[in-house]
Amino acid sequence: MQVAPTLKQKVAEAAAFIEGRLGGRRPAVGIVLGSGLGPLAEAIEDAVCIPFGEVPFMKTSTATSHVGRFVCGRLAGKCVLAMQGRLHGYEGNTPQEVAFPIWVMAQLGVPVLITTNAAGAINASYRVGDFCLMSDHINFTGRNPVAGTEPDELAFRFFSMADAYSPRLRQLAREVARREAVPLQEGVYLGLLGPSFETPAEIRAFRSWGADTVAMSVCEEVIAARHVGMEVLGISLVSNMACGIEGASPNDTEVLQVAAQREEDFRRLICGVVEGLPS
Ligand code: HPA
Repeated sequence: MQVAPTLKQKVAEAAAFIEGRLGGRRPAVGIVLGSGLGPLAEAIEDAVCIPFGEVPFMKTSTATSHVGRFVCGRLAGKCVLAMQGRLHGYEGNTPQEVAFPIWVMAQLGVPVLITTNAAGAINASYRVGDFCLMSDHINFTGRNPVAGTEPDELAFRFFSMADAYSPRLRQLAREVARREAVPLQEGVYLGLLGPSFETPAEIRAFRSWGADTVAMSVCEEVIAARHVGMEVLGISLVSNMACGIEGASPNDTEVLQVAAQREEDFRRLICGVVEGLPS
């Protein structure tokens, strides 16, 4: 009788599969490209592309604008492993399925994760088109990828989430934004399961908790990354004001349109950070 593989075995098998495709490339940075932000992957040179669906045990992306593949190659002088699109809980993925590619990156020896998304602004002083560094998060998805017994085989599960968003990488991002004249806010990100947008009452409640931005991704990835010791930077593009802020009622089309308009600044911000990372 065949025994089902453990999470640890699945992660190892997926990492070995990807490594076999990389032709000796050794990624120093993992990047998750969120809604509308996938075109950055086109700037990666000498690239190898691996569709998520070809990687053992990995789910595929079903969300609009999420291509659903790894792109590994050179960006701003470094070898990066980008996810052009991500996996969300709202697509029906379990927390561990969402976290899986992050654990695989760590298994490949990738020390740094830059995770990005489009988000709604709860903080009324933010403007659509601003970027926002995550200083911290409120995981309001009701889920945690490290729950259960198997993640404990990957790494100890009672780890600290203080300074989950690396102070030194945030400092680097601030310096790059100043140099490149890219508007960059910094605040607390609140993550939800989705896929429906929030009600105005929810947004008012989240504001009273100290949240500045809101979206439907990132928290589970960041928990997984910190679980296995990766250094994390989180950047949102403010694609809309959150529901009820200045009378806003967000929709998916608006999110993608703003991302398309902000593509150039996004590329400069990410490339500047990647270039400035210590080798
Ligand atoms: N709410 C939730 N998710 C989002 C939003 C929002 O306003 N904008 C982009 N993703």
